[in-house]
Amino acid sequence: MKKILIVDDEKNVRDSIGLILSNTYEPLYAASGEEAIKIYQDEKPYLVLLDIIMPNTDGLQVLERLKEIDRSAVVIMVTAVTVLSTAIEAMRKGAYDYIQKPFNADELKVKVNKAVTAKDMVNEIKFLRSEISRKYDFENIVGNSKAIQDIFAKIKQIADSKTTVLITGESGTGKELIAKSIYYHSSRNNKPFIAINCAAIPDTLIESELFGHEKGAFTDASARRAGQFELANEGTLFLDEIGDLSLATQAKILRVLQEREFLRVGGVKTIKVDVRLIAATNKDLEKATREGRFREDLFYRINVIPIYLPPLRERKDDIPLLIDYFINKKSIDGRKRKFSQEAMDIMLNYHWPGNIRELENVIERVITLTPDNIIKIVDLPQNITNETKAGLMKDDILSGRLSLEEAISSFEKEIILTALEKTNYVQTQAANLLGISRRILKYKMDNLNILTEREKKE
Ligand SMILES: Nc1ncnc2c1ncn2[C@@H]1O[C@H](COP(=O)(O)OP(=O)(O)OP(=O)(O)O)[C@@H](O)[C@H]1O
Ligand SMILES: [Mg+2]
Repeated sequence: MKKILIVDDEKNVRDSIGLILSNTYEPLYAASGEEAIKIYQDEKPYLVLLDIIMPNTDGLQVLERLKEIDRSAVVIMVTAVTVLSTAIEAMRKGAYDYIQKPFNADELKVKVNKAVTAKDMVNEIKFLRSEISRKYDFENIVGNSKAIQDIFAKIKQIADSKTTVLITGESGTGKELIAKSIYYHSSRNNKPFIAINCAAIPDTLIESELFGHEKGAFTDASARRAGQFELANEGTLFLDEIGDLSLATQAKILRVLQEREFLRVGGVKTIKVDVRLIAATNKDLEKATREGRFREDLFYRINVIPIYLPPLRERKDDIPLLIDYFINKKSIDGRKRKFSQEAMDIMLNYHWPGNIRELENVIERVITLTPDNIIKIVDLPQNITNETKAGLMKDDILSGRLSLEEAISSFEKEIILTALEKTNYVQTQAANLLGISRRILKYKMDNLNILTEREKKE
C-alpha cells in the first residue's frame, strides 16, 4: 500500500483523515511540521496532506522544506475557509492541490486519488525516459576500439555540461549518432533535440530557418515563423555540416553563441535563448580557417570539446563487431548468417571510404541477395572484392599457395590491361598513365603475354 503522511496538530483531524484513507493507503501521522519533515525523510511517503495552520512552523514553511528535500513531493494542503489566500499561495509554492475544512469523505478520497494518479503518471514518464536513455546508453554504438571507448568516456564526462561540442570525421563515421548520444546522456534530454543539415538548406533560406522571420520580412514570408534556435530553447541544437555555412551565416551564429540572443529576420526584438550547440562536419575546419572559408573566431567558439571519429579503416578491430551487429539488425527472418573467413578477410582489408554507413549498406544488400547462410567472397559487391585482390594474394603467398613472382606478374598484368583498356590500347597513353616509358610497357606486355590490339585481331 502507498504511504500517505497526514500532518495536523489536532489529533482528531489526523485520525478521521486516516480512517477515511486507510482502506486504500497506509496512513502515517505527524503532529507538527518538524515531525513531518523527519517522517518524510525516513519513510518517503507517496503523498502528504498538510494542514496550513499549526503552532511553531506553519504549513507553508513545511511545504517549502519538503520541496527542497524532494522536488517531486506531492502535497495537498488542508485549510480552513478563512485562509483561502494562503492556500493559493501554497499552490504557487508547488502544492499539488488544496482541500477546505470541513470536507466530506468522498471529496477527500477523490482529491487524494487524483493526486496519486498524477504522481503515478510522472513516475511512469520518468521510467520511460530512463528506458530511452538506456537504449542510447551506447547499446546502439558498436565499438571496442580504443578510439570508440575513449569517446564513450568523453560523452559521459561532457554530456551534462552546456559546452559546445564539435564532432569531426569522414562521412558515415557516426557523427550524428554521437551527437544524439550526447543529448540522451545530458540533463537536457527531456527538452528538444533539433538537427539541421546546413548543407541541405540553400543559403538564401538558412538565416530564416535558423532564426525565424517576422511577417513580411521577405517576399514569401506571409506569416511570422520561429526559427530552429528558438524552437531548441532549453534543449540542444545539432548543426550538421557546419563547414558548409556561408561566412555571413557563420557571423550570425557566432553572435548567438556570444550573446545568447538574436533577432528574427526582419525583427527588432531580441530573443534570448538557452541552447546547447553540437556541431559536426566532415571538412577540415582548421584548413578552411587558414584558407579564409571558415571564421577563425567561430571555429574557436565551437571547438571547445572536439570529438574526432576516426575512419573505419583505422579501427579495423571494430569491423567484425559491426558486421555482427548489422547482420543481427538486418536479418528479419531469424536466420543465422555468417561471413566465411575469406570473405571476412576482404571486409577487413577494404578501405571503406563510406565508413560505417557503407558497411551497413553492404551488409543489408548481401543479406538480401545471398540465399545461403554462409556469406562468401562471390556474394560481396565487386567494388569491394576488386580492391583487395592484392591483399588476398598476400595471404596466398604467405601460405605458400602462390609464388611471389606469380603474384606480382598477375597483379602487374591486371593493372596494365586496365590501363590499356582505359586508353583504347594507345600504348603511349597507357604508358603515361602508368608512369613508365612506352618501351618498358612494350617489354612488359611481351613478357606478360599481353597482346596488342593488332595482335589480337590476327
Ligand atoms: N559505432 C557505430 N555502431 C553502430 N552503428 C553506427 C556506428 N557509427 C555509425 N553507425 C551507423 O552508421 C550510419 C551512419 O552514421 P551517421 O549518420 O551518424 O554518420 P555521419 O558521420 O553523420 O555521416 P555523414 O557525414 O555522411 O552525415 C547510421 O545508420 C549509424 O546508425
Ligand atoms: Mg551526418
